[in-house]
Formats: sequence, structure tokens, C-alpha cells
Amino acid sequence: MLEMRNISIEFPGVKALSNVDFGIQRGKIHALIGANGAGKSTLMKVLSGVNSHYTGQIFIDGRQVHIRTPKLAKKEGIEIVYQEVDTALIPYLSVGENIMLNSIVNNMNRKHFIKWTEIYNKAKEVLNKINVNLDVKTTVKELSLAQKQMVLICRAVVEECKFLLLDEPTAPLSNRETIELFRIVRDLSKNHNVGFVFISHRVNELFEICESITIMKDGAVVTNKKIDDRLTQQQVVELMLGRKFEELYPKSKVDIGEVLLDVQGLSDKEKLIKKVHMNVRKGEIVGVTGLVGAGKTELCKTLFGAIKQVEGEIKIAGKIIKIKDPSSAVKQGLALVPEERSKEGILVEESIYSNLSASSLSKYTNKFGFVDRVAEKHKALELIKELGIKTPSEYQKLKLLSGGNQQKVAVGKWLVSEAEIYIFDEPTKGVDVGAKQDIFKLITRLAQMGKGIIYASCEFSEILGITDRIYVMYDGCVVKELETANTNEEELLYYSTGGS
Ligand SMILES: Nc1ncnc2c1ncn2[C@@H]1O[C@H](COP(=O)(O)OP(=O)(O)OP(=O)(O)O)[C@@H](O)[C@H]1O
Ligand SMILES: [Mg+2]
Repeated sequence: MLEMRNISIEFPGVKALSNVDFGIQRGKIHALIGANGAGKSTLMKVLSGVNSHYTGQIFIDGRQVHIRTPKLAKKEGIEIVYQEVDTALIPYLSVGENIMLNSIVNNMNRKHFIKWTEIYNKAKEVLNKINVNLDVKTTVKELSLAQKQMVLICRAVVEECKFLLLDEPTAPLSNRETIELFRIVRDLSKNHNVGFVFISHRVNELFEICESITIMKDGAVVTNKKIDDRLTQQQVVELMLGRKFEELYPKSKVDIGEVLLDVQGLSDKEKLIKKVHMNVRKGEIVGVTGLVGAGKTELCKTLFGAIKQVEGEIKIAGKIIKIKDPSSAVKQGLALVPEERSKEGILVEESIYSNLSASSLSKYTNKFGFVDRVAEKHKALELIKELGIKTPSEYQKLKLLSGGNQQKVAVGKWLVSEAEIYIFDEPTKGVDVGAKQDIFKLITRLAQMGKGIIYASCEFSEILGITDRIYVMYDGCVVKELETANTNEEELLYYSTGGS
């Protein structure tokens, strides 16, 4: 039994947790849910020894423990897989080295030699134990997000932890990878008596794998519930948002105009995408779907000039254009909200305010080159309000915002830029349902303004909810074009998995 009592914590300008009681048991899977910025990650970081300035008490099996460093957390058998997986991995080391990182580091204190065969064998053993197919010699920087996460879970398993905290583990995963993760989580909880905290914004997922749930709002616990037939997903969402929640997908009629973007036979050098044909019309929201790894992100990046195009033709409003790099893409009226926000989408060391204006500085610059700070700030405040970005001020550094709020900034940044064609690559990853609704509203509004929109996602429900037309990708190719009104999840899955 792990128990937290009366936990509070403050950061400059933010009371992140107030008097939180929280508990989990070994061998059980417990859900934690709340809107972006509710305090979920902060609470978990108290348990993992990172937020050491908490007040309140923590008990393990009735014994009070003082978790003031990550090392002490590990000693108590508490392991965490953070929301931003990259921060916990060393990209240029191998899978095996990353899994065994702690014991390598600890050994270095005592010994002069590292037994590499032993290290790799142990890493292999753990990968086998949880049935993950990864080569221990691959460098971590070559892995997908899903694979990186597996590495981190393996690292926790090596440590033989008692409690494993998973902070939005499924956000970067496809359905298939999620099923795989669930298998591992169930196995570890049943057969190895590990107690889990499982954070996710997908309520259906929590209902599938967890036995009980804690709902948080504004740094406090709203309620604890058993997950059984009496509890509905709707209830959970309304408790966490503190309001009624109806339609996730805004319905509105948009007139679709002439072809804005026309792509013929597009390929990149690595053949990550092969001879892609597609078009987007004015006011149209076009979905690009497929499993993780099907080439959606690569297609988005190639269109945006972030991956070099070697074959094919791109026309905007009937004119052939050359996109050599992202900055030329921006000049031609394209905008991309990228998938891996912390690497490509935002500047984490900078303020919200500079992030929101970074992609469109020229708009706020007069003919003498001076930036109009007043207009810039006005726009930033407007977006903070519109997207419900939770922050003490517009000057807050991005890295101090919660994960979902960082994503809102990544989206908001491009809304300022006034492009003609917007490319969204998995924009709702890690975003709570309330904020998702806000993002969908914004996208719909862009469509109403006559913009062309590409919406790439592996979440079929979102694709079906928001798009007009869909391209399904498989192995780098567009394998099927479908009218959203005349298709369903089964059909999307069929073509996504190579059916023809
Ligand atoms: N080190 C810090 N400095 C300043 N503020 C912080 C810090 N860490 C967290 N916060 C603030 O505490 C609040 C809670 O953040 P937290 O990351 O716990 O939210 P969350 O529930 O995990 O949200 P999300 O679903 O977006 O991941 C937010 O307002 C956040 O900006
Ligand atoms: Mg979080």
C-alpha cells in the first residue's frame, strides 16, 4: 500500500497541489485523470522524488517515508515513466545501455570494468520477460516514441519496482501498441505484484485497464471511484471538467471550394513516402490516417519541406511551387503543427508569448524592422484565453507548463501565422477532452475561413469526427481515399492494415 496524505506544493505563482490524498495498492492498476494542468504529473513527481519541496506525508505499508530525491524513490521501489520520454533517455546510447543505465551508473562508482556481455544479456532477458521485440544494440535515437517508452518500462522492470507510475504512456502509441502495453501492464500487476498509476486523457482506455480512478481538478482531488458498471465515462469527464460536456466534434456547414493544394507522385529520398497523390480544397478538412509508422508524419514533413522531396509535384492554387525547406514552405502559405512538439514545435526555454509569435514575427514588424510588442502581446493573450492555456502569465517559460498546455501553445503558434494550408500532425496528443474540443473548434473555424486543412492522426474516431475526406496510408503509400460520411472505423482499420 502506498499512501499520500495532505500533499501540497507551490511553484512561483502557481499552487500546483493543495491537500491531496492519494493511494494505490500493489498488484492493482489505478487511474489518474484531470484536465491539462490539473496537477497529475506534479503529484507523480512528488512520488518520484523530483518535486522534493512538497508538504504532507507519504506512507508505504503504514511506514512513513521521506521521498526527497529520485534515488530515495527508487530505494522505496517507486519507478516512473515520464510524459516526455526523451528527457529520460540518452539518445546516442544503445537500447541495452539505456535499459541498464542505473546499474551501469551505480557500478561505475564501485568498479572499474563494466561487463558488457552481462549488461546486454540482462537487457535481453528483460525485453523477453515482457515480450518486447527490440534489438539491444540499436541506438535509442533511431527508435519511435513507442519503442522509447518500452525501453523506459524495461528499465523500471530491471529495477524490480513495486510501484510503477505511467504518465500518459499511451499518448504516442497506436492502437496495436496500446494493446501491447496493456498486456505488459496487466502481466506486471498480476504476476509480479506491481502497483500502477495510469495517467491518460483517453477515458475509454482507463475504463478498460484500471480498477479504480482518482479525478483531479485545479490541483485538488475531486473524488475517488471504483470503475464498475455504475460509473460512466461521461460522468468522469464532467467531474474532471466541472461542467456538462456534450459534443466533442463541432458540427458546422462549410462550403468547400476549388482545389488549393494538389500533390502528384510525391516521394522522398528514403522512400518513407512513395508516389503520394492527394489534394485539399478550400474549406476542406482532409484526414490522413494509418497506423503509427505508415508514413503520415513523413508525408506532413515532406509537404512542409522538412524532409527532402525527390519526386513529384506540388501545386498551390494551380501554381507549381518548389518547397526546399520549412521557411520556404511558410512563405508559400503552409503551416505545420508537428508531432514531436518538444523537438520541433516549440522553444521550451522561451516564454509562451515569444513562442506564440515566433512563426509570424514579420506580421508584428513595421517597415523599420521594429517589433510591435503591444500587438504581439495582445494576440498572445487572446490565444491564451481562446485555447484555455493554464498559466500564471504570458511570460511563463514553456517548460514550466503542463504537457497538454505546451501542446496548446504548439497549435496556437501556427494559428497566428495566417497560412492558407494548415497541416496538423496528431495535434491532440496529450490534450484533455475539453481542450480537444477547443482545438477542433479552431480547426473548423479555419475551414470556415476557406483554409485547406490536413489532419493526420491514427485515432480513427477523431478522423471520422472532424474530416470531410480521408486518405489512408500503409507502408508509405496512400492506399485508399474515402468520403468520411460513407465510411467507418472497421473500414479504416481494414485499409490501414494493408487490406485492399
Ligand atoms: N516546475 C514548475 N514550475 C512552475 N509551474 C509548474 C512546475 N511544474 C508544474 N507547474 C504548474 O503546475 C500545474 C500542474 O501541472 P502538471 O504538469 O502537474 O499538470 P498535468 O495534470 O500533468 O497536466 P497535463 O495533462 O497537461 O500533463 C500547471 O499549472 C503547471 O504549469
Ligand atoms: Mg502531465
